[in-house]
Amino acid sequence: MHIVHIAVEMAPVAKVGGLGDVVTGLSRAVQELNHNVDIILPKYDCLKYINVKDFHYQRSYFWDGTEIKVWFGKVEGLSVHFLEPQNGFFSAGCIYGCRNDGERFSFFCHAALEYLLQTGSHPDIIHCHDWSSAPVAWLFKDHYMHYGLSKARIVFTIHNLEFGANNIGKAMVYADKATTVSHTYSKEIAGNSVIAPHIHKFHGILNGIDPEIWDPYNDNFIPISYTSENVVEGKRAAKEALQQKLGLKRSDLPLVGVISRLTLQKGIHLIKHAIWRTLDRNGQVVLLGSAPDPLIQNDFVNLANQLHSSHGDCARLCLTYDEPLSHLMYAGADFILVPSVFEPCGLTQLTAMRYGSIPVVRKTGGLYDTVFDVEHDKGRAESQGLEPNGFNFDGADTGGVEHALNRAINAWYDGREWFNSLCKRVMEQDWSWKRPALDYMELYHAARK
Ligand code: ADP
Ligand code: GLC
Repeated sequence: MHIVHIAVEMAPVAKVGGLGDVVTGLSRAVQELNHNVDIILPKYDCLKYINVKDFHYQRSYFWDGTEIKVWFGKVEGLSVHFLEPQNGFFSAGCIYGCRNDGERFSFFCHAALEYLLQTGSHPDIIHCHDWSSAPVAWLFKDHYMHYGLSKARIVFTIHNLEFGANNIGKAMVYADKATTVSHTYSKEIAGNSVIAPHIHKFHGILNGIDPEIWDPYNDNFIPISYTSENVVEGKRAAKEALQQKLGLKRSDLPLVGVISRLTLQKGIHLIKHAIWRTLDRNGQVVLLGSAPDPLIQNDFVNLANQLHSSHGDCARLCLTYDEPLSHLMYAGADFILVPSVFEPCGLTQLTAMRYGSIPVVRKTGGLYDTVFDVEHDKGRAESQGLEPNGFNFDGADTGGVEHALNRAINAWYDGREWFNSLCKRVMEQDWSWKRPALDYMELYHAARK
C-alpha cells in the first residue's frame, strides 16, 4: 500500500510535541511492514536540515500563482518532501504562533495535494493530522478526488481536540476514517458535537514510541549503554551525569523528572505542587519544559529563580526545548511525572518506561491506558497481559498527586531491591509501534473497502 502523510511536524527535524514523534514512529513501523510511505512537510526557514540525509532541491511547481520549491531528503529512513512556497509563509521564527497560522497551513495542505496531482502520484491513503492538516480532507473531497487522486482514501487523526475545533469538525465530515490516539480519549471525546455524528468511522488507536529512536542501549546522549539486564548501573551513571550537568548535589536521592510543554493541559498547578512536595521528601526535581504563553513562561522563570536560591542543590528548572537533555533525563530520573488534566495519549510516560523510569501519572486518556498502579491496578493490568508499572491518581486537586508521589517516593526509600525490579520490569514492556502499526494497517484496509 502507498501511504502519504501530510503533516506540519515530524521528529526530529520539525518537532514541537508528540505529533512529530507519531508521524515519524508510525511511518517507520508501517514502512517496516513493507508498505510505501511518503511524508509531505512544510520547509520551515527556522529549522536546520543538517540531519536530513541527501537533502537536495528537487523541482518547483506553481499553485495559485505562487512558486513552490520542493526539497527532498531522508529522515530516519523515511522519504520526506519539503514544500517551500515562495510567499514567505514558512519563513517565520517558529512552527506555530503566527497570526495567520490557519491561512499558512491551509495553503500548505492545498499545495501538498497539488504536488501529488502534478507529480502523478496515486497514493492509496492520504493521512492527515490535527487541525493543521485537516483541510486536506475537504480539499480532497471537494476537488482532488475528482481528478488524478481518485484512488486515495482519507484518514484523519485527532491528536488533541482542544485546538482548531472548526477544522477538526470539517475533517470529521469528509474523512473516510478518523482516529484518535488512545482508546480512553476516544471515549472521553465521543460525545463532543464534532465527533458524535461520525462515531461510526471513529476509532481509538494507542500511540507507540519508536524503540530505535528511544533506545538506552544505543543513545549518544547518555553515559552508559544499558538494557534491563544492567538497568541499575546504567541509570546510576545517567543520574550522576544529569546531576553533574545541572549542578545538583551528587548523591543518590529519589529524582523526579518532568518533560513537558508547560500548558494548562499538562496540569501546571499539580506540577508545581509536586516540585515542593518532592523537595520536602528530600528528593530532587528536574523540569524540562517551555511555555508558549509568555505569562506561564514568566511564572516558571520566577519559580526557577526562587528554587535556585532556596533549593539550588536539589531542584533545576530548564525552561527551554532540549532534545539531548530530555534523553539524559529519561535515563537519569527515577520517576517521570505526568499529572495532565487531560492527555489524548502522552508519550513521555512510554519513553520513561523504555529507559526504566517509573511513571507517576493522572488517570486520564492515554495515561490511563498505559500506566497501571502497582497497588491498585493488578487486575486491570493482567487483563491487558501486563504487570503493573507505575503510580497513578484520580482528580485534579493537589491531594491526588501528593498521595501518588508519596507512595512512589516511599517505595524508592523502603525497598530498593523491589524498586530496581520494577525498573527492570517496565523496561521489558513493549510500548513500540509494532501493535498500533498493525491496527493502522487494518484501518487503512477498511478505509479502502
Ligand atoms: P504533547 O504532544 O501534548 O506535547 P506528548 O507526551 O505526546 O505531549 O509528547 C511530547 C514530546 O515532546 C515527547 O517526545 C517529549 O520528550 C518531548 N518534549 C516535550 N517538552 C520538551 C522539551 N522542553 N525539550 C525536549 N523535548 C520535549
Ligand atoms: C498531542 C497530545 C498528546 C499525544 C500527542 C501525539 O499533542 O497532547 O497526548 O501523545 O498529540 O499523538
